Amino acid sequence: MSEHQANLIDGKAYAASLRERIGAAVTTLKAEHNLTPGLAVVLVGEDPASQVYVRNKGKQTLEAGMNSWEHKLDVSATEEEVLAIVDQLNNDPAVHGILVQLPLPDQIDADKVINTISPDKDVDGFHVINAGRLATGQSSLVACTPVGCVLLAKHALGDLSGVEAVVVGRSNIVGKPVAQLLLQENCTVTICHSRTKDLPEVCRRADLVIAAVGRPEMITGDWIKPGACVIDVGINRIETDEGKTRLVGDVAFASAAAVAGSITPVPGGVGPMTIACLLRNTVKAACAQAGVASPEL
Ligand code: GUN
Repeated sequence: MSEHQANLIDGKAYAASLRERIGAAVTTLKAEHNLTPGLAVVLVGEDPASQVYVRNKGKQTLEAGMNSWEHKLDVSATEEEVLAIVDQLNNDPAVHGILVQLPLPDQIDADKVINTISPDKDVDGFHVINAGRLATGQSSLVACTPVGCVLLAKHALGDLSGVEAVVVGRSNIVGKPVAQLLLQENCTVTICHSRTKDLPEVCRRADLVIAAVGRPEMITGDWIKPGACVIDVGINRIETDEGKTRLVGDVAFASAAAVAGSITPVPGGVGPMTIACLLRNTVKAACAQAGVASPEL
């Protein structure tokens, strides 16, 4: 008997093709509307993972033909200093998107900073206004990783109408917004968290599992309904037996892939989609601010 293997959902390839379409759209916006979308990123401190993200964001923004600015502050920066930069970027017409890299040092109130960003420039979709617009079905900038998850789920399953979706994790950055997006796609949505009773049993009902808990390899193959689509948002660095480190998701990949119909790998699944969706949001924000129709992306 041949061992079942789920189809691999290639987020790296999907993100590359999305970036290509974004680059083409930017070329058209420049030529026809003299509009160059611009993204400003604010980084406070020297967290190594944040530095890598910010560098990649800047690089991919430039590769797509957009303007990119980085504002780096010392780890000891005050809240007032960060708010002053956000204020300056809010008032700069060349800046269409503003992203403040999280986490921020303890002396800075992240909610206050996020809610100071103009909602129209909030390409992270974290502003309370954008969260509210999403929840009420109004047009908004939507958080990048959730959009990436839904694009990949639709790529794997087609129309999501009527699909039983289980979201594991209730963060503001992924769990809650991805649940809202799946509702818009007419899924039946269950949001699970650390107090959920019999989590494996709830997951086994799902046609679509979105794993966003931040616990390495927590979701195993016996939690997965045969044929289900599994989208793994987790990026966890663990130590191997040989004393090295490797990246794993929130899903135990090998055991889940033996049961699922389709599954995202880590790395190379949801991860690359996040920055591609950030570029997509920056184009949308620039078009809205310039009063130009946004291209389909
Ligand atoms: N830190 C980790 N992920 C993100 C993200 O999507 N946006 C921001 N601003 N910070 C992050």
